[in-house]
Amino acid sequence: MPHAAKHALIVGASRGLGLGLAETFLRRGWRVTATRRGPAPALERLAAEGVRVETADIDDDASVAALLGRVGQERFDLVFVVAGVLIDAQRPLHAASRAVTAQVYLTNAVSPILFAETFAGTLAPGGILAFMSSVLGSVSLNEEGGWENYRASKAALNTNARSFAARHADRTFGLLLLHPGWVGTDMGGEGADLDVATSAAGLADVIEARAGDTGLAYLDYRGETLPW
Ligand SMILES: NC(=O)c1ccc[n+]([C@@H]2O[C@H](COP(=O)([O-])OP(=O)(O)OC[C@H]3O[C@@H](n4cnc5c(N)ncnc54)[C@H](OP(=O)(O)O)[C@@H]3O)[C@@H](O)[C@H]2O)c1
Repeated sequence: MPHAAKHALIVGASRGLGLGLAETFLRRGWRVTATRRGPAPALERLAAEGVRVETADIDDDASVAALLGRVGQERFDLVFVVAGVLIDAQRPLHAASRAVTAQVYLTNAVSPILFAETFAGTLAPGGILAFMSSVLGSVSLNEEGGWENYRASKAALNTNARSFAARHADRTFGLLLLHPGWVGTDMGGEGADLDVATSAAGLADVIEARAGDTGLAYLDYRGETLPW
């Protein structure tokens, strides 16, 4: 009997890296469920190829609960919270508004963990729960400053994910904090090192290689370990 295809839930797949990851896993033979929070023509085109397109706003608990109601009977080999925001990161902390800095923290560092708590029971044994972090989330590599509210939000995501890992010490799935490289998306902008397909392929290789490992790691798209 052939093996059942692995199943990925990609959260935040309207465009950029989430969209690229949905397409990459689809081409690798995975079943893919992918979310967007509004109209997303590029993702909706993948529905014709079998991607299940769902709706979720990770900042909205009712939206996340409703998604669980629709797909919670599934078992996922990968739940990947890709969604994130970059707002006023070019300003030093004192020049960005408190409201913006709080929003960046909530979306990048809190909402992914709340999503993970809600979906922890959907992970298949040996599966992977991944968060899209950044090398900018490394506290020890922060020698030059810059990107202040964004950098702090990704450092907080790393810390919150470590707390999640401790809280779920008896889990049967692994945890990854992933840096995609500097990628040419709406967020990555001009002059990026990598295109989406290259980054997504590297991230998919890293995820597939970690299947069955229930540890926690902070890795880039080449599988290199990053310092906390
Ligand atoms: N690009 C890079 O060089 C780079 C480097 C390091 C880390 N990252 C991280 O990689 C992830 C993806 O970045 P990207 O470059 O692909 O950015 P992007 O092109 O700006 O896409 C961001 C994605 O996140 C979604 N999103 C934002 N807030 C959301 C929410 N509250 N609920 C659900 N979805 C939400 C967006 O949906 P909408 O279309 O609805 O806005 C969009 O699909 C982010 O976490 C980012 O911090 C990117």
